[in-house]
Amino acid sequence: MKIAIMGAMQEEIEPLLEFFEKYETIEVAGNKYYTTEYKGLELIIAYSKIGKVFASLTASTMIQKFGAEKLLFSGVAGAINPKLKIGDLIVATSLCQHDVDITAFGHPSGFIPEGKLFYESDKELLEIAKGVASDMGKPLLEGVIATGDQFVADEVRKDWIGTTFKADALEMEGASVAVVCDALEVPFFVLRAISDTADMDAGFSFDEFLKSSAKESAKFTISMLDKMV
Ligand code: ADE
Repeated sequence: MKIAIMGAMQEEIEPLLEFFEKYETIEVAGNKYYTTEYKGLELIIAYSKIGKVFASLTASTMIQKFGAEKLLFSGVAGAINPKLKIGDLIVATSLCQHDVDITAFGHPSGFIPEGKLFYESDKELLEIAKGVASDMGKPLLEGVIATGDQFVADEVRKDWIGTTFKADALEMEGASVAVVCDALEVPFFVLRAISDTADMDAGFSFDEFLKSSAKESAKFTISMLDKMV
């Protein structure tokens, strides 16, 4: 089984590369892809760079060039749901694009004709995640993740995203990866650990907690692999 593990930033995949230690590096279209083997699973690891366009390119490459059969995304997010604190984990049950706006033509926010408003994560991967959370004794919130090409550091924007999409967390790549995986019929899963609360202090909080939260998410992802072997 070939499994892709992707992040958006170097910091999000660094704990994975440190864990696997030995890997091959292959460059494609301006990104590095790391291949390795873990307990019989073939892994392809990469970070895309920030945002929906780069994330789509990386997800497509992992599937179409490297033959990934499942895709796990690991990284950090800003919390909307007040239950989520720094370092807490959220797994997306579904994802949407909060920055898509063709409401001028009567479409709901986030909707593109012939696309979907919400893209649902793979149910089997969600079940595996729940098992891992219970084994680790770690709370795991299941919820909606909203994606957009904006670092949100503003209460008004954050509240609008929360209200409009009933979103629990926000980030900048998940939904674009979901669109690619849905189109190419590859089961996917998006896991994020909270780095900030998308308010006026978000930038400082992100810088402070990016590495520690990324590590939490990566650790959980590795435990998921243990259940997939
Ligand atoms: N990823 C982590 N925090 C974020 C935020 N506040 N906005 C967008 N993406 C994020």
